[in-house]
Amino acid sequence: MSGPQDSIAIGERSARAAASQPQPAACVSVPHDREGEQPLLSVRDVSHTVGDTHVLEGISFDVFRGEIFGIMGMSGSGKTTLLRLLIGLDRPTSGRILFKDRDITQLDEFELNEVRRSMGMCFQYSALFDSMTVAENVAFTMRNRRDVPRAQVNARVNELLDLVEMAGTGHRMPADLSGGMKKRVGIARALMQQPELVFYDEPSSGLDPVMACNITGLIKRVSEDLGSTAVIVSHDVEHLLAMAHRVLMLHDRHVQVIGTPEELRACEIPIVHQFVHGLGTGPGAELCPAR
Ligand SMILES: Nc1ncnc2c1ncn2[C@@H]1O[C@H](COP(=O)(O)OP(=O)(O)OP(=O)(O)O)[C@@H](O)[C@H]1O
Ligand SMILES: [Mg+2]
Repeated sequence: MSGPQDSIAIGERSARAAASQPQPAACVSVPHDREGEQPLLSVRDVSHTVGDTHVLEGISFDVFRGEIFGIMGMSGSGKTTLLRLLIGLDRPTSGRILFKDRDITQLDEFELNEVRRSMGMCFQYSALFDSMTVAENVAFTMRNRRDVPRAQVNARVNELLDLVEMAGTGHRMPADLSGGMKKRVGIARALMQQPELVFYDEPSSGLDPVMACNITGLIKRVSEDLGSTAVIVSHDVEHLLAMAHRVLMLHDRHVQVIGTPEELRACEIPIVHQFVHGLGTGPGAELCPAR
């Protein structure tokens, strides 16, 4: 089992590390062009226990402005748990989570709500309110903002529905929408307050391959168009590697690797190799018919 204490950097130290270590430990890649830059989000040695279960241990990584940062891992590896910690829905057992240099693990609910105005969240199952129209769902996070005129809210809703290619659907109810359409509305809602950082939990799960591809392309385009930063949690490796600048893999409570898609494809850590290349052999694949 490898942990963060075993971490090595991909890049100039990788050749030396590879030569001295036949079995690669966790690899952590930091973008070379970001040296000295303050990360937007910084996770420092975070561990989290739920009941008797140690879900996460010693998790550390940085997300920089404008990055699309992916988090992948097998079912039950702690992706959603980590996401909940990052938006302050839960507090980690230990460690620090800095958003723009502010440790959100130390904030009270009022301060957290203030910070969350700079964050957007797109939930795993869209989580639209069935009793509200599409437009009301998209405007939901602005419902208590008396400082923003109604006309401005409506204009923003229309602009976002246009952006996610759902123009003219504001009057419709969620029950009348397909899964892919609901995902689009969920994305529009996450972007309503012009967040600096948008979190997506399994944006392509439950969709047919074509729609999954479209949603992936949409997130990429929207992030680039708006210049926002995205953290995307997914076990859809193919789409994650297609859209992310860097990807982290969680396994066995630890970060196994952080790297660019190219670095992950070339990574020799067995569990990473198996996960990235979709192999039906190796740990955890005992029931796979392809064995
Ligand atoms: N509220 C909770 N109570 C007890 N255990 C929990 C709770 N939340 C998460 N866990 C445990 O934490 C582990 C990680 O769960 P989590 O939902 O974060 O995984 P995941 O990687 O998001 O999985 P999936 O890909 O299936 O969505 C699991 O073992 C789960 O049983
Ligand atoms: Mg999950």
